[in-house]
Amino acid sequence: METPTLGGGDARSTSGPLVGAALRAPLVDRRGRVARKVRISLTDRCNFACLFCMPSKGKVHWLPRQELLSFDEVERLTRVLVSMGVRKVRLTGGEPLLRPKVEELVGRLTRIPGLEEVDMTTNAWFLAEKASALRAAGLHGVTVSLHSLRRDRFHQIAGMDALPRVLEGIEAARREGLTPLKVNSVAIRGYNEDEVLDLVEFARERDIALRFIEFMPLDGRGTWDPEKVVSGHDLRARIGSRYELLPRGRGDGETAQRWGFEDGKGEVGLITPITEPFCDDCDRIRLTADGQFLTCLFDRALHDLRAPLRAGATDEELAETVRACYDRKPPGVQYLGDLRKTWVKPRAMHAIGG
Ligand code: 5AD
Ligand code: SF4
Repeated sequence: METPTLGGGDARSTSGPLVGAALRAPLVDRRGRVARKVRISLTDRCNFACLFCMPSKGKVHWLPRQELLSFDEVERLTRVLVSMGVRKVRLTGGEPLLRPKVEELVGRLTRIPGLEEVDMTTNAWFLAEKASALRAAGLHGVTVSLHSLRRDRFHQIAGMDALPRVLEGIEAARREGLTPLKVNSVAIRGYNEDEVLDLVEFARERDIALRFIEFMPLDGRGTWDPEKVVSGHDLRARIGSRYELLPRGRGDGETAQRWGFEDGKGEVGLITPITEPFCDDCDRIRLTADGQFLTCLFDRALHDLRAPLRAGATDEELAETVRACYDRKPPGVQYLGDLRKTWVKPRAMHAIGG
């Protein structure tokens, strides 16, 4: 199938004044970090309940429907961000495929001139049925969260007996040519660290890029403790016990240190926010499902863009609000120690979008 192109699409009636407008100055914070990627959470809801993400059952408070940004609002804010130099969008959740007709939004975003890539992170429950529509709408890559290859353990970690269906979703994404296709695994001591080599083998057989992520203290149940973090160093040693790893480095603004294998099959990436943070060249910003702008995962301040948006702010005013907030982006995860002392209620991952 031919890859749908971005940027050249028809000018839509909703495109507003930004089409053809001169690019605004890029978004740069006081440490010189330039924002190039935005992660947009489309809902805080999820049909799974991963233990490192969701609060326990009965303690989850979902946002009411009307609090969520509409597709029009997401598109409008994305256009403003693209006019400030943002080049990639990643749609996240909760579970983004829970938003009805999400492919419509994907189609609208992929037609924004200047936006180079739209990807999605999903738990894959609905991926087998949605992959073809997403591809037709122009979605580029998909990252699937997969923390175990053992059905009972998957159930225990994700709170849903979903492994067979998730694997079908991954196959569907492959068949449809959604690239880059990646798999994310959060490694947690005592839960799945003994599956590191199995996951590597799974990914290599399918030529999928695998990413191991260190467990971050953003879990809704507050069970994080440093002992549960499987470090990048540990992961490397485990993988190195079977394979010779070839360093591919970490690209500017990338989160993963990438490693190849001698036979060239597959790739593994280690995302080490805890033991080897990568905040100095961070190029990411986030938008929560209810329209709060987050300059950093560990930013304590939420900057509301929805209120001005709904009150009729111009694109210019929205851009200036974004710029003023972004300037004060915190240095990053290295300040987590101090932060945890003062951070009364950390936001759980499902409410931020990972
Ligand atoms: N630490 C690290 N990664 C997490 N994710 C969810 N919660 C955590 C956490 N506490 C992962 C999800 C998904 C990605 C967006 O973030 O599994 O793959
Ligand atoms: Fe849902 Fe993803 Fe959180 Fe798991 S990690 S509960 S799949 S949002």
